[in-house]
Amino acid sequence: MSLKKTKAFEFLIYTNLTSRNLGFREVSVFPAAPFKEYPKAKKVKLSINQFPSTPPFFEILNKRRSKRGYNRYSISLREVSLLCYAAQGITGVAGFYLLRTAPSAGALYPIETYVAINFSEEIPPGIYHLEIKDFSLALLKEGYMGKILAELSLGQRFLATASLVFIWSAVLRRTISKYGSRGLRYIFMDVAHICQNVLLASEALGLKACPVGAFLDEEINKFLELDEEESVIYLATIGK
Ligand SMILES: Cc1cc2nc3c(=O)[nH]c(=O)nc-3n(C[C@H](O)[C@H](O)[C@H](O)COP(=O)(O)O)c2cc1C
Repeated sequence: MSLKKTKAFEFLIYTNLTSRNLGFREVSVFPAAPFKEYPKAKKVKLSINQFPSTPPFFEILNKRRSKRGYNRYSISLREVSLLCYAAQGITGVAGFYLLRTAPSAGALYPIETYVAINFSEEIPPGIYHLEIKDFSLALLKEGYMGKILAELSLGQRFLATASLVFIWSAVLRRTISKYGSRGLRYIFMDVAHICQNVLLASEALGLKACPVGAFLDEEINKFLELDEEESVIYLATIGK
């Protein structure tokens, strides 16, 4: 089959910006709330008193590798706090916008972070949502979910032995309302920035990490009880 006939190629061409289509919108899409919050959930407060001393930045870049052999290491609250900070910590305020460690097209921040804690003596195992504004984890489902996540990731067993699995979803409306279908490109770029921050932070902390793009989308959406317009787009495992 010709590459040009694939949906991927069609999408790329359809969402190209040209001097003739600037400002073109196929349909108008209303914006969405900028934050997702679970106010009734039990919370685990994250905190960082001091940044750790780490190897030099370029050494960290040089060492980063996708590593999948984990030993069910008990991850600490401090390590989880630093990883969540690397993902989506607030680092500045500009009007209504809460600026973060990773950039986002239009400062619209369409990505939601969920964290599956598999092994930790300080945080009860379970699925949590990262609450951006108060830097806490909201408990959504209690208990060890590593085996289920491994099954939903096409049987990739290292998800079951990782200390923690990041699950990133996109709230499409936040970005599509401004950029139309081209916004989907930005959503994937946004999540890649977040993930790379986490991969480098893991390396800096002496942990192992691996990004994961192979999973059953709909099944994970259902498992996390995501909203109708929200969908999982990327995972990453962290362990030792
Ligand atoms: C978008 C994306 C999806 C990936 N999905 C998986 C995956 O599902 N399972 C896996 O074991 N590795 C996955 N990887 C890791 C790649 O296999 C890895 O980055 C590649 O082999 C290069 O190795 P390195 O990361 O150690 O440099 C993914 C990487 C990216 C960027």
